[in-house]
Amino acid sequence: MDNGSHERESTQLERMPRHVAIIMDGNGRWAQQRGLSRTEGHRRGERTVRTVIETSGELGIEHLTLFAFSAENWRRSQDEVGGLMGLIEVVARRNIRELSQNNVHLRILGRLEQLPRSLRRELDRDVALTHANSGLHLDVAINYGGRSEIVDACRRLAERVQAGELTPDEITETTFAESLYTHGAPDPDLLIRTGGEMRVSNFLLWQIAYSEIWVTETLWPDFSREHFIAALESYQARERRFGATPDPNGAQADAPPRGARRRAEAPARSPR
Ligand code: FPP
Repeated sequence: MDNGSHERESTQLERMPRHVAIIMDGNGRWAQQRGLSRTEGHRRGERTVRTVIETSGELGIEHLTLFAFSAENWRRSQDEVGGLMGLIEVVARRNIRELSQNNVHLRILGRLEQLPRSLRRELDRDVALTHANSGLHLDVAINYGGRSEIVDACRRLAERVQAGELTPDEITETTFAESLYTHGAPDPDLLIRTGGEMRVSNFLLWQIAYSEIWVTETLWPDFSREHFIAALESYQARERRFGATPDPNGAQADAPPRGARRRAEAPARSPR
């Protein structure tokens, strides 16, 4: 949990995580506290989405993954699900030109075939538009579940074995990771969750094996650039060992798992 001191600004952030993943939680509670509809809470979350994308680009973070709609979110009321689907489509349409001009490369993670047709069409267009961009890699998880992603990867590998393209011995952590929706991206270095819940909610289950986790009570619509920087600073102060024992001389852990970085390598910053 963060220490609640967010009056900080840093212009010299070094040793950035390459990949930050975020569980954007708390829109509903934010709205309820103000007597507004849950859908209004999601609407207010758009501003925070823009803030974290802009800040990530500015700070040189290479990959940003946002959890927008989980495979379990279909269990919400029809009104809320409809509102969310419409909002995701509107947010995408409203922001895609600017994202593309800022060289953002967009990818969507999840079982997209189950999404409404107009949303799918919008997302297909947006992905195609940013396909050749080489800046921030923005992955947005929609109708995403970590377990179903793993099942889909198993199916893909089984099909390749059946087709004679791969032998069972060639199924390794590397070929498995290459069969996930997130293929090509390093594992998240930092997982942020807003809204205070201490769980991973079926998000990137394979990929977060060694991620550093940072949870804040702050609800998503209130999550600001300063909160984001506080999370990054907390990450930078941590030693990442990937299962090795701490080295008394401060040397790095050996052989981090594929796709993972060794450690933040940062001396702890004094809290401000
Ligand atoms: C969780 O709050 C938030 C969501 C399920 C949706 C967030 C989606 C957006 C802000 C739109 C993003 C769109 C794009 C294209 C990136 P919650 O309802 O679970 O809040 P609660 O825990 O307070 O109930």
